[in-house]
This record gives sequence, structure tokens and C-alpha cells, in this order.
Amino acid sequence: MFIKELYLCSNFKYKKMEIIRKITELKKAVDSRRALGSVGFVPTMGALHAGHLSLVNRCRKENPTVVVSVFVNPTQFNDKEDLKNYPRTEEADFALLEKAGCDIVFAPSVEEVYPEEDTRRFDFGQLEQVMEGAHRPGHFNGVAQVVSKLFDFVAPDNAYFGEKDFQQVAIIKKMVVDLGLNVNIVPCPIQRDTDGLALSSRNMLLNEEQRAIAPVIYMTLKEAVNRKEWASVEEVKKWVVEQIDSNEQMKVEYFTIVNADTLQDVESWDVPCAKQGCIAVKVGKIRLIDNIKFA
Ligand code: PAJ
Repeated sequence: MFIKELYLCSNFKYKKMEIIRKITELKKAVDSRRALGSVGFVPTMGALHAGHLSLVNRCRKENPTVVVSVFVNPTQFNDKEDLKNYPRTEEADFALLEKAGCDIVFAPSVEEVYPEEDTRRFDFGQLEQVMEGAHRPGHFNGVAQVVSKLFDFVAPDNAYFGEKDFQQVAIIKKMVVDLGLNVNIVPCPIQRDTDGLALSSRNMLLNEEQRAIAPVIYMTLKEAVNRKEWASVEEVKKWVVEQIDSNEQMKVEYFTIVNADTLQDVESWDVPCAKQGCIAVKVGKIRLIDNIKFA
């Protein structure tokens, strides 16, 4: 009770953020705070930016305990080079998390999370056969492997995911239902740079020229939404690909307009469902994704 009152008192200075590398210690630390109320959790792969921090801030507002994981999960990378090049900025990440009021950071080694090969195979049916699932074989199986483990270690009440990874949110929601987990999934809106580019850890891998043209992705998506008024789904899709591919250095991997719940292609604006336009673009060697609502 005393601790709870302290937490509620605005003058209360948080105990220094704990950085934990071992699962047993994490469980102890989280359990010792459960009496305060709900435990909120934000899984990340680090290289943190304002997109991640928007999730942490939301989590901070809604839960007395905030746990953030920083773990570059090898099983979700289908491309070894991508895994090798993935930015790692642990010290800066910890400083940002401390400032954001995070209580516990979990930053384990690969051996801690995977003492043995994880041979589990998840089946998300149609949800994983499209978009990222189709273009990055095994990606969502790896995401489900790590997120299910992290949910087991942290046992959060609420877990926060960005809509930047639109399909990932759908997959995680399905996983929670399939595994019968008691975790509330909270989707959070995409955070963008001032020029519209969706924030991403991969943006720091773009060279100056690539960074300068990357906002074309969101500009094109926004214009595509306007075109809905007079162009068919097929025409809008074709236009988006042509627009973006007309830039040297840019190549659309896919652009599709889907039912926001089932993630299956919609063929007409008349289909009565929420619609989302989802895109993956290679800018040089860097792969960026984004999405937009087609109300
Ligand atoms: P990562 O790419 O680090 O992203 C962590 C979380 O931040 C995800 O939920 C992602 O959607 C969110 N996020 C990233 N950029 C964002 C932006 N611009 N606006 C809003 N949210 C944003 O996604 C992963 O890591 C991993 O797959 C993970 C879930 C941690 C499993 O390994």
C-alpha cells in the first residue's frame, strides 16, 4: 500500500531503472511490482527512436510498471545480412528509456532467450500468407516465437505494438487468441518524421540521397487515398507502384489494399470493411514498410 501511495505521489522519484539480462531476475523484479497494479510491456529490437518511445509513453501513462525489452531476435530475420547490419545502440537506448520513465529493461543474450533451438511452428493461416509473410518467409514464425517467450517471461497485462507493422499487430492478436493468453494488445499509431517518413530503426542505414527521397513513400500513399474518389482499387495500386518506381534507387516490393481485419486483398471500394494500403519498398538495399488507412 505504502509503495502504491508513493507511486501516485507526483514528487515520488522513480527508483533507478533496472537493466536485467536474466529471465529469473526479470521474473522476480516484475513480480515484486505486481502489487502496484498492471504491468505494461513494450517489446523492441532497440535502436530506439520516437516511434518506440511513443509506445513507452503510452505504456507509462496506463501502467504503474513499465517493462521494455531490447532484443534483436535472430529467428525473425530471414536474411543473414539484414541481421548482421541491424543497428545496435544499447547505451543510447538505455538512456532514452530511463528518461522515458521505464522501470525495467530486459536486454538478454541470444543464449538466454534460446538455450535450445526453438522448433515451434505457428500457423496463422491466411494472415501470414500475404505481404510481409509472403515476402519474408519464416519472419512471423520468428516474431511469434520471441513474443510468446517474452510474454511468458514478463506476464504483462498490457502489451504495446506499433501500427507501423500493421500485419505484426494482426499476427500478435491472433497468437494471443490461439494460445489463450491473458494479455491485452494495444495498437499505437505510426509516428513520422516531419517530412512524413515513418520512423524506423532502418532509416539510419539510408545514405543522404536515399533519406532525401524516402518521404516519397508516404507522399504517394497520401495521394493514393485522394485518388480513391475517382480511380478503381486496381488503378490506384498501379499508380502507386509507377510513382514510386519512377524514382531511381526505389523499387516497390509490394503495394496492396487489404481488408484491415483479414489482411486479404480487396478488389473494390464497395466491399464493406475497413481498408488499409500496405507497402514495402527497397530504397537501395534498405527495405522500408509503411501503411495508410483508406477509410
Ligand atoms: P521493432 O522494429 O524494434 O519495433 C518495436 C515496436 O515499435 C513495434 O511494435 C513497432 O511496430 C513499433 N514501432 C516501430 N516504428 C514505429 C513508428 N514509426 N511508429 C509507431 N510504432 C513504431 O517490431 C519489432 O521490433 C519486433 O518484431 C518485436 C515485436 C520486438 C519482436 O522481436
